[in-house]
Amino acid sequence: MASSSLICETGPWKDLREHVEDLKKTHLRELMSDTERCNSMMVEFDGILLDYSRQRANLDTLNKLYNLAEAAHLKEKISRMFNGERINSTENRPVLHIALRAPRDSVINSDGKNVVPDVWQVLDKIRDFSERVRSGAWVGVTGKVLKDVIAVGIGGSFLGPLFVHTALQTDPEAIEFAQGRQLRFLANVDPIDVARNIAGLHPETTLVVVVSKTFTTAETMLNARTLREWISAALGPQAVAKHMVAVSTNLTLVEKFGIDPNNAFAFWDWVGGRYSVCSAVGVLPLSLQYGFSVVEKFLKGASSIDQHFSSAPFEKNLPVLLGLLSVWNVSFLGYPARAILPYSQALEKLAPHIQQVSMESNGKGVSIDGVPLPYGTGEIDFGEPGTNGQHSFYQLIHQGRVIPCDFIGVVKSQQPVYLKGEMVSNHDELMSNFFAQPDALAYGKTTEQLLNENVPQPLIPHKTFSGNRPSFSLLLPSLNAYNIGQLLAIYEHRIAVEGFVWGINSFDQWGVELGKSLATQVRKQLHASRNKGEPVEGFNFSTTTMLTRYLEESVDVPKEDCTILPKM
Ligand code: F6P
Repeated sequence: MASSSLICETGPWKDLREHVEDLKKTHLRELMSDTERCNSMMVEFDGILLDYSRQRANLDTLNKLYNLAEAAHLKEKISRMFNGERINSTENRPVLHIALRAPRDSVINSDGKNVVPDVWQVLDKIRDFSERVRSGAWVGVTGKVLKDVIAVGIGGSFLGPLFVHTALQTDPEAIEFAQGRQLRFLANVDPIDVARNIAGLHPETTLVVVVSKTFTTAETMLNARTLREWISAALGPQAVAKHMVAVSTNLTLVEKFGIDPNNAFAFWDWVGGRYSVCSAVGVLPLSLQYGFSVVEKFLKGASSIDQHFSSAPFEKNLPVLLGLLSVWNVSFLGYPARAILPYSQALEKLAPHIQQVSMESNGKGVSIDGVPLPYGTGEIDFGEPGTNGQHSFYQLIHQGRVIPCDFIGVVKSQQPVYLKGEMVSNHDELMSNFFAQPDALAYGKTTEQLLNENVPQPLIPHKTFSGNRPSFSLLLPSLNAYNIGQLLAIYEHRIAVEGFVWGINSFDQWGVELGKSLATQVRKQLHASRNKGEPVEGFNFSTTTMLTRYLEESVDVPKEDCTILPKM
C-alpha cells in the first residue's frame, strides 16, 4: 500500500466487504452452536480470559481481518511505536507511553537516547516525595501532615488517574495504605467543582497537585489559581511552596506560576495526554494516596500487556484481536457505538476514561496523510457498571439499536459479601448478570419460544428479541492494582490497533482546538461588556441574543474587581 492510499482501497478491505454480506445470513445463534469455532475464540493471557465467540464473525472473518492487518502494515506500525519513531507525524512526536511502565533495566530509544533512565528518575523522585508526605517528613506551613490531596487537571490529566483511583478505592491492599488520606480531583472549570472539592478540607492539611502537560490549559490554570488563592487566603502566600506541587512537561511555566521547580514532576512530549496515567500525571497523586509500592504493581500490570502486545502472534494477542474485531464491527457491520459494561462498581470510571482515549484518538476525518476518509473512524463509547446499566439503557441495546458490548467480569470480588440463607453470594448475584446478558443479546427470543410460553398474541412483537447482537466477554482473575494496569493497557493498545488499521493518526487531537479559540473570543467579550459596558459584537444573531440575555440577567456579579471563594 503506497503511503497516501487508503486502507479501503486494498484487496483485503474489499474482500471483507463481500464477506460481510455472506456472514449477515448467519445468526449468532448458529455461530454459537459450533463448539469448535467457540473454542478457538477463547484466548488467555496472564490470567485474563477473552471470549470473542459472540462476535458476528467466523474463522474466515478472522483470517480476512489478519489480511487486512497485513495490508495496513499493523505489525510494522506497532514496532515503529515501540521503537520510538515519530509516528505522531502532525505533532512530530514519538508515542512512547509504553516506556512509562517499562522495567528499570529495559532500553527504549527515542532519537537515539534511552528514555527509561529518565522515566525511573522521575519515578524515584515520586517514590521519595510521596513517602515524605505520607510519613509526615514533608508537612504544611503550620507543621501539620498533608493528608488530603486535590489533583487539579482535565482530560488526560484527570480521567485516567480518576479511573485508577476509583478502581483501587475498595481494593483491600490499597485501603490499608490509604488509611486517613483522601484524594480528590478538580477538573471542571465550573466553580461548583471547586466548591465540591474543597468542601470539608482545610488548606493546612491539603496538598494541591497541578497536573497539566502544557501548563496552559485554561480550565486547569484557572482552577489552579483559585486553589492558590484558597491556600494563600488562609495561610499566606508563602504557604504555596509547601502546599502546591506540579506535574508538567513545561517546567518553565510551572516556575512562572510560583511553584518551586524542585517540586515539579516532569514528563515528556512523547506521552500523549490521554495516555499519560502511567507518568507522573497518575503516579504522583496515586502514590500520595496509596503509596508507591501499590502504584508500581499497576505499572507492572500495564507493562505485562505491553510485552504481550508487542510480541504475541495476532491470533493470541488480546489488544490486536479486540482492535481488529472492533474495526469489523464499525467498518463492515456498520455499528458505530460501543458499550463498556464492567460488572464491577470499582470500574465505574473505566468508561469515561476509555471514552477520551478512544474518541479523542480515533475520531478523525482524514488519514494520517491528510486524505479525507470515505469511511467513519472511531466509536461512540459509553458505559456504566452492570447491573446499573441494565436498569437504564439496556432496553435499547436488547431491542433497539445494535451496540457491540464489552462485558468485563471479575472472578474474585474486592469486597465479598455472603449472607446466610441467600441462594448465592452477592458477587455471584452480580456475576449471574455478567454471564446472562451476552447470551440474551446473542440468542434473543423467538416468536416460537413465546408461543410455547403461552404469551398472548398482541404482546408477542413486544416480547420478541431479535438477538444476533455481538459482544466480547473479558474475565479478570481479580481487581488489584496489577489487573487494573492490565485492563488499562489492553484498551490503550486496542484503540491504537484500530487507528493503525484505519490509517489515521490516533495520537493527535486537533479537533479540540476550534471550540477553545472561540471561547477566547467570548471571554474577551464578557470582560469588555462587564467592565466597560460594551455591547455584544462580532457574533451571529443566535450567540449575540444568548450572550446579551446572559449578561443582562447575571445581576449578582460584583461590579468591582475582587476575590470571592465558594462558601461551602
Ligand atoms: O482535551 C484536549 C486536551 O489537550 C487533552 O488531550 C489533554 O489531555 C487535556 O486537553 C489537558 O491538557 P493539559 O494536560 O495540557 O492540561
